[in-house]
Amino acid sequence: MHKVIEIKNLNYTYPDGTLALENITLDIFKGDSVGIIGPNGSGKTTFLLHLNGIFNGNSSVKVCGLSVSENLNDIRRKVGLVFQDPDDQLFMQTVFDDVAFGPINMELESGEIQKRVDKALGSMDMGDYKERISHHLSFGEKKRISLATVLSMNPEILVLDEPTGNLDPKHRKDLINFLRDMDVTKVIATHDMDMVLSICNKIVIMDKGRIAALDATENIFRNNELLRLYNLD
Ligand SMILES: Nc1ncnc2c1ncn2[C@@H]1O[C@H](COP(=O)(O)OP(=O)(O)OP(=O)(O)O)[C@@H](O)[C@H]1O
Ligand SMILES: [Mg+2]
Repeated sequence: MHKVIEIKNLNYTYPDGTLALENITLDIFKGDSVGIIGPNGSGKTTFLLHLNGIFNGNSSVKVCGLSVSENLNDIRRKVGLVFQDPDDQLFMQTVFDDVAFGPINMELESGEIQKRVDKALGSMDMGDYKERISHHLSFGEKKRISLATVLSMNPEILVLDEPTGNLDPKHRKDLINFLRDMDVTKVIATHDMDMVLSICNKIVIMDKGRIAALDATENIFRNNELLRLYNLD
């Protein structure tokens, strides 16, 4: 199978000295849907931020064979990252401008930009929000718009940080079904175990910045000792 993400011995220490990732080695294959789980502060977000070069500075992460630190523009087109906090994602005046930002940067023609924006917003059930002011929306609405800003770029790899956080039950379920049917490689950090079970074929359990376990979803959920150890049952 075709490796799309290769990580070798990745370490990361924040400027204040907090060691957040320690010796992470992981391969992700085309079409994989990998759930990154683990307690608060275990390093999930820090890990995701390495996948599109927001954190870099070493050559331990490769995407589609390219070193992330040396190919930022290519990487950002391939990897769509949705932040845990939508206020980190949305920075334009209107929803339209936020969702069109990626396609405009890709220098697509205006008809194609319109099409991409409509499709991305429609898939998040936010088609009526184009003219709304992004920072006036509710948290859950902003989460869905954040996903649309990434979907409009047709990324090969979707990296999602707590995508179901603060969504109402209907939109949470719609999102899970949408992601399950989407034919791209996915890396999803979450505390939503039902989502992991319905979407992810592999699970990484993180603990104190390390990979504590990595296996097929069915093996992780069959391992009672592991489930008890990480309070997942
Ligand atoms: N800007 C920062 N400066 C210093 N330490 C940080 C910073 N951001 C995160 N950390 C620390 O790095 C570690 C990993 O944090 P991270 O946000 O990656 O955890 P997480 O698994 O995503 O948690 P959560 O489930 O709460 O989202 C924690 O110990 C956290 O306190
Ligand atoms: Mg996090």
